[in-house]
Amino acid sequence: MALPRVRFESDGIEVDVPVGTSILEAARAAGAQVGSACGGVCACSTCHVYVKQGLDALSAPNDREEDIMDKAFDVRANSRLGCQSKILRDVTVVCEISGESRKAFLDEHPEIRKAGERTSVG
Ligand code: FES
Repeated sequence: MALPRVRFESDGIEVDVPVGTSILEAARAAGAQVGSACGGVCACSTCHVYVKQGLDALSAPNDREEDIMDKAFDVRANSRLGCQSKILRDVTVVCEISGESRKAFLDEHPEIRKAGERTSVG
């Protein structure tokens, strides 16, 4: 049986995951730079992603997620919290990592930020 696939833009990272996996769990499996300051318990907005494809195949947002999103930065119609978005069907989900999420990830992983700076300085 085919598995759902999650692609993280603009990094071009892809991962196949079982049905029921959250976008945050997929990001961790793929090594994508999605933050998770609260550890995935719907208490921050650092796992904020924009779902560009496959939005209707995700679990619906609950009231708590909507409350959190009210306080997030640059919220769009396709904004979701990665930790609360479970992939319910065998589809390809395409996500763009929000600025606040990538910043949070790099704050959580200073060693990766340093490596990136070294690479970009060339
Ligand atoms: S990691 Fe905090 S709400 Fe998702």
